[in-house]
Amino acid sequence: MTVLADTWHSLGTFDDLEIGDKKEVTLPDGKLVLLIRTQSGMHACCADCPHQDTPLAEGMLEGDVLTCPLHFWQWDINTGEAIGIAEEPLAVFELRQENGAWFIRV
Ligand code: FES
Repeated sequence: MTVLADTWHSLGTFDDLEIGDKKEVTLPDGKLVLLIRTQSGMHACCADCPHQDTPLAEGMLEGDVLTCPLHFWQWDINTGEAIGIAEEPLAVFELRQENGAWFIRV
């Protein structure tokens, strides 16, 4: 059994998340994160746009590029790197899976 550092939080299983699905999850400290499953795997990022806090669960997904629905800032959800007109990066979080359960490092 692997012992996880205390910066890792258990999220549970997300077998119901299919490619292209997004799901908001509240962490024990109240922080809201967005889980996104794409063809390349599971990703986690800040749930709100860094521009004007629009919920990114309502954003558009094309491959691994997430687009905010309000002013169309875009990010690579692997790295949080801003793309195109986006002026700020998006916070992304490391995930790992153990015995079917997902853990997030925040
Ligand atoms: S609120 Fe998201 S780009 Fe403006």
